[in-house]
Amino acid sequence: MIANQQTAESGEQLTNLRVSVIGTGYLGTTHAAGMAELGHHVIGLDTDAGKVAQLSAGHVPFFEPGLQDLLGRGLASGRLRFTTSYPDVAANADIHFLCVGTPQQAGSDSADLRYVDAAMQSLAAELTEPCLVVGKSTVPAGTATRLAQALRQRAPAGEGVDLAWNPEFLREGYAVKDTLRPDRLVFGVDTDTAEKQLRAVYNDVIDGGCPVIVTDLATAELVKVAANSFLATKISFINAMAEICEVTGADVATLAEALGHDDRIGPRFLKAGLGFGGGCLPKDIRAFMARAEELGVVQAVSFLREVDAINLRRRARMIDLSVEVLGGRVDGKRIGVWGAAFKPDSDDIRDSPALDVASALQTRGADVGVYDPEALTNARKKYPQLDYCSSALDAARDTDLILHLTEWEEFRIIEPATLDGITRAKHILDGRNALNPDKWRAAGWTYRALGRP
Ligand code: UDX
Repeated sequence: MIANQQTAESGEQLTNLRVSVIGTGYLGTTHAAGMAELGHHVIGLDTDAGKVAQLSAGHVPFFEPGLQDLLGRGLASGRLRFTTSYPDVAANADIHFLCVGTPQQAGSDSADLRYVDAAMQSLAAELTEPCLVVGKSTVPAGTATRLAQALRQRAPAGEGVDLAWNPEFLREGYAVKDTLRPDRLVFGVDTDTAEKQLRAVYNDVIDGGCPVIVTDLATAELVKVAANSFLATKISFINAMAEICEVTGADVATLAEALGHDDRIGPRFLKAGLGFGGGCLPKDIRAFMARAEELGVVQAVSFLREVDAINLRRRARMIDLSVEVLGGRVDGKRIGVWGAAFKPDSDDIRDSPALDVASALQTRGADVGVYDPEALTNARKKYPQLDYCSSALDAARDTDLILHLTEWEEFRIIEPATLDGITRAKHILDGRNALNPDKWRAAGWTYRALGRP
């Protein structure tokens, strides 16, 4: 039963719902703090007691702009707390959001559903009262229907337990905005009650004009993978054009600008460079192909194989270009790398193109120093063999080549003159097409970028 709720039809403020959020990674922490901001009473659950202690103390264990404040406000309001106990969330919440990770399985392209299954089992065993479980994790097609059956079979409340799917589309770096002011809400539901409950949860967001798409479970879970596949395809499309530009002398940045003015195409996600990384796009397209194969429709998404290949070729191209600029050999050369996160405004290094390139060059014998404003702690853990620097200037010291691989604002505003007398040579490769070529060339630098003359 939902506490303190007025009906969706009444049009009155629907706050004070009792909500739980299972899994407190990037998605879950932001969702939990966002739900508290919307006025609900929220319990965040994680099986990692250390994480629960950190969050309870108001500390976000990763970098996400604005989230620390949101968490602090939630805790101070008394509407947000964290626990490791499933009986606690089952007893004190009526709507349970499932936000655990679905990483790529080791040794396969498929999604690893062990965290989803474990969370569902632990939660189901405690559900003695009717309630709604809402999946937000990115899962292979067909998972929601399977989970709905398993949940009802295992939960003591049986048929009283409803399952809905409400995919998230949040981008790291904009997670708070994407949670509080999403560009759409998708509700995959089996019952009217589930739809009403979800409308109540997001009442303020919907009142703010956010479009709602109500559909079945299968469509809802597919929206997420389809969206990420489209975004990955758009990036790889422009990176494929960059390959053509490299052999024809054309300029991919100007090409993208010209394409982007066509309303049907649009300028976003048309930025050529080192390509996509992170915890979502790469693993989601691979899991989609693996699932399509299981479903006997692999041809429908076989283009994603090429999307993945184009993306990885950009990393290889950056390595080749570095070798070329250094005169054919990298061994014994000092290379400074600006950027370790998979994108700016994040400390996430999952499938980071920057670190992939940095470690490949080091394997070839280069002496590689890396600096990133936020991601060094994570980078050190995964790539202990790399040398880490305390600033962009420190990473540039005595280098034969600088690689700009993650487009943090801090790097974009560097004036070439500040590097005078610091580097050994004036060579810079811009892997993100984010620096001003004229400025660097005017200062006497060899400036090269992917897809540009
Ligand atoms: C993505 C989706 O955007 C989001 O909707 C979903 O919920 C999760 O996955 P995220 O992984 O945070 O979000 O990053 P995103 O901003 O999509 O960027 C992904 C990668 O593509 C980054 O490595 C970025 O540098 C790269 N990228 C993005 C480009 O190379 N070119 C572009 O034009 C845009």
